[in-house]
Amino acid sequence: MMLTVVAGALLLSLVNSSPVNYAENPSVKRFQEYVQINTTTYNDLEPVVQFWQRLADEAQVSLSKYEFKEGMPVLVLKWPGRNSSLNSIMFNSHMDVVPAKETDGWTYPPFSGAAGARR
Ligand SMILES: *[C@@H]1O[C@H](CO)[C@@H](O)[C@H](O)[C@H]1NC(C)=O
Ligand SMILES: *[C@@H]1O[C@H](CO)[C@@H](O)[C@H](O)[C@H]1NC(C)=O
Repeated sequence: MMLTVVAGALLLSLVNSSPVNYAENPSVKRFQEYVQINTTTYNDLEPVVQFWQRLADEAQVSLSKYEFKEGMPVLVLKWPGRNSSLNSIMFNSHMDVVPAKETDGWTYPPFSGAAGARR
């Protein structure tokens, strides 16, 4: 059900998005903001926690923070469904990244959040 909704939303955005102006898309802007946080492993991840807390507050969903290892927060955001007898779906990602230096051959500085045509 959830996947159907996501696929439908993606399809709708493709149909409704000509001409495409990614720079003004709120999702793209939010993602750029996220990418601009230097999350290199062992950096202070508190700015990421604050980023997710803000999004959770905006979406009015709960955020729980666990810290099994100091400096390595685990965040859990929960969206309650309308029918608790149905299965849940989980999206999972890590917040930190391997070191990325501009001299590694990036087209744009790795934490610039630049949106360009080149891949
Ligand atoms: C990101 O953080 C790493 C590790 O602290 C640091 O070496 C690097 O210079 C930072 N990059 C930028 C663009 O600030
Ligand atoms: C919740 O889902 C179950 C399983 O599909 C269904 O039998 C039930 O009618 C649903 N309840 C509501 C309130 O939609």
